[in-house]
Order: sequence, then structure tokens, then C-alpha cells
Amino acid sequence: MCGIVGFIGKKEAAPLLVEGLKRLEYRGYDSAGIATLPDGKIERRRAEGKIINLENTLNERPTAGTIGIGHTRWATHGIPNETNAHPHATERVAVVHNGIIENFQELRAELVEKGFTPHSETDSEVVPLLITSYLNEGVSPIEAVKTTLKRLDGAFALGIIFAGEDDLLIGARRGSPLAVGFGEGEMYLGSDAMALAPLTKKIAYLDEGDWVVLKRDQVTFYNEDDQEVSREIRETAMSGALIGKGEHRHYMLKEIFEQPQVIGDTLASFFNPTAQTISMPDFPFDLATIPRITIVACGTSFYAGLVAKYWIEQYARIGVEIDVASEFRYREAPMEKGGLSLFISQSGETADTLAALRYAKSQDQHIMSIVNVPESSMERESHAVLHTHAGPEIGVASTKAFTTQLTVLACFSIALAKAKGAIDPTLEARLCKSIAEVPARVTEILNHDESLRDIAHSVAEARDVLYLGRGASFPIAMEGALKLKEISYIHAEGYAAGEMKHGPIALIDESVPVIVLAPSDSNFEKTASNTQEVVARGGRVIFMADKQGCEKMADHSMASVAMPDVEPFVAPILYSIPVQLLAYHVAVHKGTDVDQPRNLAKSVTVE
Ligand code: F6R
Repeated sequence: MCGIVGFIGKKEAAPLLVEGLKRLEYRGYDSAGIATLPDGKIERRRAEGKIINLENTLNERPTAGTIGIGHTRWATHGIPNETNAHPHATERVAVVHNGIIENFQELRAELVEKGFTPHSETDSEVVPLLITSYLNEGVSPIEAVKTTLKRLDGAFALGIIFAGEDDLLIGARRGSPLAVGFGEGEMYLGSDAMALAPLTKKIAYLDEGDWVVLKRDQVTFYNEDDQEVSREIRETAMSGALIGKGEHRHYMLKEIFEQPQVIGDTLASFFNPTAQTISMPDFPFDLATIPRITIVACGTSFYAGLVAKYWIEQYARIGVEIDVASEFRYREAPMEKGGLSLFISQSGETADTLAALRYAKSQDQHIMSIVNVPESSMERESHAVLHTHAGPEIGVASTKAFTTQLTVLACFSIALAKAKGAIDPTLEARLCKSIAEVPARVTEILNHDESLRDIAHSVAEARDVLYLGRGASFPIAMEGALKLKEISYIHAEGYAAGEMKHGPIALIDESVPVIVLAPSDSNFEKTASNTQEVVARGGRVIFMADKQGCEKMADHSMASVAMPDVEPFVAPILYSIPVQLLAYHVAVHKGTDVDQPRNLAKSVTVE
């Protein structure tokens, strides 16, 4: 949710800021802008839309200076136009902001009273105005920022430069992530390690409440009580190379096709191929005595958690509570002491999930996170971490992050079941074997790409699409619907097949494609009956099942997708693939922006 960068050094700042912003574009692409200090004066260049528009603006009207800040925006307050684009500035100070200033209305009223005129509709603009009001009282830039930070409620990561101060860049963090990069005679600020990776491998993260003063040769960190503190400098493993699309037309398609590889990479951390067993790293708690598990996540990661609930309850026989983070964090859930709280997040930065993690920590829970981005806030605040090895996911719609999350969760469920003594060795061996075969099975399914493209063309005309599944296929139905709506803008819903008669069946007519996920498990017959009910009401069924299942329903389906015949345990991972491909091809057919769908951002760091 918004990306920020900052640079102070000897080189021209503008090209470096734009490069950094390109690497952060996944965080928002409503507008972008930079501010630099040619001859000590603040110069801004801003443009509505993607970073390419800012580059065009800079080509027409370049700006010089060896210090600067930049921003790519995901709009919260104020429509995405040039006026609302960051940096926001007065003649004395320019600011980029990621987050939400909750008390901006009150601050804005106070500033207007003092004679300031806000130019934008954003919450962010109060920050440069407030700093300017303190500068006007004669205090130093550092003092002005210190006082301003104490007046702000809400979440923020800030980058700040000052007119006439060529060796001063200030950053601050509360709620939104921020990192400092260390170079030789130059220093950098960025929302994450990805933005800084081409410039330096030496990175330090600001802790919650920290602020930082960057000069060309020195970085000084302060905590929320304004005491000077030291923060660990780490070597980031993030690659400096810009990630390309390879031979694929979109990042999303490339990421779908990477799944056999990245699922295999993820599996390699837990699966012992010689013993054919799963093992987990050492945890600072004993899995055998965990009384209860709470899973919290958002969006696609939440659906991965929902699949895990089915797995853990069925195989490890432990009760699992699951909620979306935006609800969980405010409902003051009572939590049994010593329980395990599991947070699932591709980015490791999602604001609601992070807040839920902190709540669970305050309730004496063991905190475990499953993240894709190493060194992310969630990883740093957890007692234990399991990594997905999906690599950078650039397409805004999550695909490989999801299936690698499922892979980790499948391995964890087996390990938990074993630690609890809840499964016998024969079943354990069967589950391990099935998970080891997943990369090969995914490759097989990817061969259906052509036929899914044809099916997609008929779905693309629909106004509404339903996805049905039972058991662990139900979360995949919801994930399929989410994928379709976010990239093709077609309204879609995922339902538990057994719920159809309780209301949603009223929606069925010839214009509604119904995608049914029916692996050969103990629910197959029931799902098949629900499908007949849909067909009887004129619904156009696209049936996804193994060969036998497809044959049984051949007379009733408009189309079918023949899936490999697999152990039901791994079906949720495999059935994710056709729903991803279907959504992708529908979106391509409709001509939408597959990798950067409207209104979305990859990393949701505001609540
Ligand atoms: C959908 C999607 C989102 C994310 C959600 C959580 O394709 O990507 O629903 O899953 O915003 O993000 P993370 O996993 O980074 O916490």
C-alpha cells in the first residue's frame, strides 16, 4: 500500500528514485511522484497513473539534485490524480507518506486556522503543513519532525526532505514498514528490501515507533521516546536484478507456470526424500502439547488458512479457529494460554494481520508465521517462522504464493498430526508420498492450459459466476471466485456446495456459469448431487474432477476439466491451478490489466 523511497548521495537522485519506485510499483499504481533539491529548493514532479507516466513527465521536465524522495500511491483519501499524488510539500519541506493519518481532519482544521491552505484532499498533506508550522516558529528541522510525529495518530512510514538542507533526509515508522540502506557516501530509504536491493545489500529495519536521520556519511536511529538507539544492519538476500516476465506475456502467467518449481523448492525444506518423511525446524514450543490453534490472515492467504483448518482438524485432531485479520484484531477473542497462533502472509507486512499477531502475542500465544518475504515485519515479530519459497510474486493476484502456503501448511499438518500421535505410520507415509508428487501433478495440470483458454471464452461473457466445493475444496472455490473477480472484474462467489439450497440456488439460470470442484473424496457423491440440482435449474456447469468423476457427470456438464486422480489430501493444491488459469484467460480475453488490476495493491499496509 504505497511505496516510498529516499536517496541522499553524490549521484543524480531522480533516476535512482524512479528505479526504486519501479520495484515498489506492486504496492500501488494510482499515481507516482518525486521531490529533489536542485540548488536547495524543493522541486516536484508528479503524475497520475503508473510510473511510466512519471518517467514521461521527467523526460519532458527533468529535475536535478543529489537528494530526494519518491512515492507510488494506492489511494486512501482523495481520488488518484496529480494534485493528490505525493510528495506533498510546502516551500520548506516535502513529504512522502505510506499509511493513514487518522486525526488528519482535526489537524487540518487547526492548520487552516493558522492560515495554511491545503491543496489536496489527502490525509498526508497535514504532515508537511504541520512540520512547516513548527519550522515557522523557528525550531530546527529535526525538532519540527519530532514534535510533528507526536501529533500524528494512525499508521505511517514517512520520508522527509527540507529546502536548504542538502545533507538531511528523515524517515519515520509507525505501523508501516521502512528500511534504511547503507552505501559508501550515500544512504537510502525504502518501504522494503526489494526497493533497495540494486543499491546495497546492507539494510537495517526501523522498529515500531522509530525515526531516523540520514546524512551522506551517517545514519542515526531514534526510538519512539527520542532516545538514540542502534539497529542491526543485515545483509539482505534479495536480488538486485529486476524480475522479468521471461517468455510469458504477464507476470501472473509466469508465476502460475513457476508453481512446480517453487512448490518443489518449498517442499525441499521439509521433506526428506530418503526417509520419505516430513520434518519441521526446532520450535521454541512443543507441538505435542498445543491445546488449540488460531489461524489469522487476509484474502488469498486466509483461504490457505481455511484449507489448513480442514487438514489440521481431520489429521491432527486439534481444534482450529480461523478468522480474517480485519475482524479478528477488533473482536477481543479470548485465547487459551499456550495456544498456537498462526499468521499467513505473502508479504509479511499486511497491516491487519500484523496487528492481529501483536494481539495474539499480548494473549500469551506462541506466534508462528508463514511468510514469503524474508525479514518482513511478521517474521521479525514471530517466535517461529516457516518460509514459502515462492520467490518474488509480482502479479498482484496471488498464485504461487498461495500454493506454496498450502504446501507449507500440508507439511505442518502432517508434522502436527505425528507429534500429537494422531496418525498411524501407514497414513503418514501415504500423505507424505502424495505431497512429494505434487510438483509433477501440477506440471500435468498446466498442460490443460489450452482447453481452459477455450472454456474461459464462454465464461468471459458472464455477469456472475459461481464456484462450488465441499470440504477442503470449499476454500478453493472461494479462492477461484476471488481470482476471477479481482482480475476480470466479473462478479463471482464461492459457496460450500451444500449451502446452495439455502439461498444461492435462486441465482441460477442459463447465464450463470457454475464451476464445480469435485475431487474424488468422501464428499464426491454429495457434490455431484448438488451439481445435478444446479443443472436441473438451467445452470451451465464446468466440472473439475478426475477422469472418472468427469465421466460420471459428462451428460450434465457444459465442459469438464480432467484432473489427475490423487490422494484427496493434496487435491486443494492441485485444484488451485485450473481456477487460476481460468481467471487468467478470462481476464486476457476481456483485455483487463492482469498484473495490475484496478483499485488493488499487492501489499496492504493500511487497515
Ligand atoms: C489476492 C491477494 C490478496 C492477498 C491479501 C493478503 O490475489 O493477493 O487477497 O492474499 O491481500 O496479503 P498477504 O498474503 O501479503 O498478507
